[in-house]
Amino acid sequence: MSLRSTAGELGERGLKAGLTWLSHRRALGRLATRVPITKPMVARFVVGQTLDEALVALGKLRAAGYATTVDVLGESVTAADLATAAADRYEATIHALAERGLDRNVSLKLTQMGLDIDPDLCRATVERIFRAAAGVGAFVRIDMEDHTKTDRTLDLWRAVRPLNPASGVVIQAALRRSPADVERLLAENAPVRLCKGAYNEPASLAFRERAVVDRAYLELGVRLLRAGARPAFATHDGRIIEQLIGFAEREGIGPDAYEFQMLNGVRRDLQAALLRRGFRVRVYVPYGTEWYPYFMRRMAERPANVAFMLRSVLKEGRSGRQAGGSSRHAG
Ligand code: FDA
Repeated sequence: MSLRSTAGELGERGLKAGLTWLSHRRALGRLATRVPITKPMVARFVVGQTLDEALVALGKLRAAGYATTVDVLGESVTAADLATAAADRYEATIHALAERGLDRNVSLKLTQMGLDIDPDLCRATVERIFRAAAGVGAFVRIDMEDHTKTDRTLDLWRAVRPLNPASGVVIQAALRRSPADVERLLAENAPVRLCKGAYNEPASLAFRERAVVDRAYLELGVRLLRAGARPAFATHDGRIIEQLIGFAEREGIGPDAYEFQMLNGVRRDLQAALLRRGFRVRVYVPYGTEWYPYFMRRMAERPANVAFMLRSVLKEGRSGRQAGGSSRHAG
């Protein structure tokens, strides 16, 4: 690696660490969700604040041929009633998906269900959602949060899995422990979503150089494909995607034995191209008012987003002043 690209990666890592730190600042989150100027940038990633807005977006994606999974935004709740309210929203979402004939598939975070305040509450809340999902044949994916939650997340999923076998977990290629986790999950016939990892983890536990994370991703992806585990590859990395497709083709593994998953608003060109080539593409569709930490992680993943956001904020500010304070949002 050249000195320049090393310096670039270090700078990027610093920015990522800063943005990740900001993503945990609740007061800033409360402020940001009230400032209209952030709306246009957020709207790229988050389909709306209400279930109705989400249903419209989901209908359009389905009409275009995409599979979907819905994230009712929220995480790190600090009170039991917030966890209960989150479960209510998930239940309502699952029922609405079933009623409208939309893809019955949701993704949730355990800290939204109270993991950090009371493990029993968290388990009871997740059980409620698993039962509701099982009742209408919906799939539930438990997202993976930072490394302090890995064991608790996998353990809780194992405990509640019998309530809804149509459920699965997420493995982060960046974590050094992941090959061992994958082996255990393969033995359990677990549906696995493989991602690189969105959290800023210590070097003792996680790979931090891009190239190393990419290599780990590919190795785990190949392992899952070879085992016939019907993996979900959550990445927008075109190079990795082509390598996985190439491997699958050489091994005679058909496109119905795996799927690609991408975030709403990210690499729409790649999503469409894969769909045209006959691959299953599932779009991760977040909605809700608690968008701040999710949005900040999207910023941290791609520093260019920050420059773009700042430019649009400045532009909004100028046009807002010209228009006597009212601001136009480009959707
Ligand atoms: P990489 O970061 O190398 O990006 C490849 C290319 O994609 C970039 O060059 C850029 O073009 C584009 N891109 C990526 N991120 C972008 C962004 N935010 N804005 C604009 N362009 C962007 N993580 C986690 O820790 N736990 C989880 O449960 C999940 N769940 C999950 C579900 C799904 C469906 C996806 C797609 C991702 C996740 N992630 C996740 C996030 C994941 O770990 C990772 O942080 C992001 O996907 C970015 O990594 P890529 O694999 O896309 O590669």
